[in-house]
Amino acid sequence: MAEPWWKSAVVYQIYPRSFLDTDGDGVGDLEGIRGKLDHLAWLGVDAVWLSPFFKSPMADFGYDVADYCDVDPLFGTLADFDALLADAHDRNIRVLIDWVPNHTSDQHSWFVEARSSRDSPKRDWYVWRDGDPDRPPNNWKAAFGGDAWTWDETTQQWYLHMFLPEQPDVNWNNAEVVAAMHDTLRFWLDRGVDGFRIDVVHAIGKGEDLPDIPADSSAIELTLFHDYPRTHVLLRDIRTLLDSYDGDRTTVGEVYLLSTAKVAEYYGAGDELHLAFNFPPLHAPWDAVKWRRRIDRVVEEFDPRQAWPTWVLSNHDVSRHRTRYGGSEERARAAAVLLLTLRGTPFLFAGEEFGLEDAEVRTDRVVDPGGRDPCRAPLPWEPAPPHGWPTDDVWLPWPPDPNERNAATERADDRSVLHLYRRLLAARHNSPALSLGQFAWRPGPDGVLVYERALDGDRRVVIVNFTDDPVAVRLDDLDEGVVEVASHGQGEGASYSGVVPASGAVIVR
Ligand code: GLC
Repeated sequence: MAEPWWKSAVVYQIYPRSFLDTDGDGVGDLEGIRGKLDHLAWLGVDAVWLSPFFKSPMADFGYDVADYCDVDPLFGTLADFDALLADAHDRNIRVLIDWVPNHTSDQHSWFVEARSSRDSPKRDWYVWRDGDPDRPPNNWKAAFGGDAWTWDETTQQWYLHMFLPEQPDVNWNNAEVVAAMHDTLRFWLDRGVDGFRIDVVHAIGKGEDLPDIPADSSAIELTLFHDYPRTHVLLRDIRTLLDSYDGDRTTVGEVYLLSTAKVAEYYGAGDELHLAFNFPPLHAPWDAVKWRRRIDRVVEEFDPRQAWPTWVLSNHDVSRHRTRYGGSEERARAAAVLLLTLRGTPFLFAGEEFGLEDAEVRTDRVVDPGGRDPCRAPLPWEPAPPHGWPTDDVWLPWPPDPNERNAATERADDRSVLHLYRRLLAARHNSPALSLGQFAWRPGPDGVLVYERALDGDRRVVIVNFTDDPVAVRLDDLDEGVVEVASHGQGEGASYSGVVPASGAVIVR
């Protein structure tokens, strides 16, 4: 049986606010994305994941959804979405959208109704608790600070919110909620989307009693107040729903549990999530030992379940990897080779293909309550300000060196980071070993990871040098020994020299 598309795909995350504006308000929109599909096709991505573009008061920049089935006017219209989807499909680019089922906006009609009275038919759609207005029902803290509970004056009860008070948690123990949420999935599946990135999915199932987190919780997994068995039941129903559609519709869950074993459980027996984000490597420093350990954990936990891993270096919630790795372009390039040659589905974050670093965001420009502005800076498309945008008055400052680090300048220079990404994507697509093959370590010196990917007689060896010195690694047993891609761009197509430069990486066939 042919493997489903999402196993060999490279997925590209777009944060719509930051991608490209077309209407002059300084915030990106759906038309901006549609206008750059040719860039994505040229780069070679197979799918995009769009962060939320739904109706929202934007307290969490769209992760507070006020209507799951409509586009916020800031981003365009449903017709714009349909046009984007059709044009993406014409280019064989699949489209995943962000589904935020753990909480809604406090402006969602469901919550407005629920909050209006204790007798509201929708009261039970959220998580309410009695109590003393001075003492929250338990000691849970919200993700961006403060208590995870807000007292509602009108109805004299507390409601739960794991994130902002403007993001009340939904009660998935209520069957009507489940049905309503399923309808929102059908709405987009019927429109033709290829699947969903599911926000905070490990938290949707909740217990009835919500106990305090013990005081010594530093030693205790975050999983005490997430990760209830009920979530797995809910996920199986969601999977059944998706499977009732043709075309291998898929899910990738944000299972924000920093335990690889726990994350693997969210694949169920092939009947829950298709894919889950794998965050421990994202948080690993640029260190061969630590990376090796993270990769080993994935192999140990995922392979026995036949769970297909994912790999990601950057997203809209964390500092960009080039910045995390000390600002070094060499390391960022070598990391791209690593990301795109491991066994599993890689996720790119828009702008990493330009080698972008985080923006410097002065205090007076800060807008995100979670401190995540720097990685969300707008993408520069052209060298001259306003960098391909209709206005220089953009919602966040530009990332560093936009006159050099932009799509047009890098496209004209085949030594650029952009061209490296394009060669890596092509190498991956042209090689069964790299896209779907087995993974095995090979011996290597300290500070260097050497591994092999193989499938049906196709084989690639990858060497990633995490050190700041050149290293010698012999590969005498290879028939050809030709460098296919080099992070520093030198020697491609020639015999492998036996030495990998400082902070460099190569794919050898
Ligand atoms: C996820 C999103 C993040 C958002 C949060 C609440 O972690 O990635 O951006 O703030 O969920 O929805």
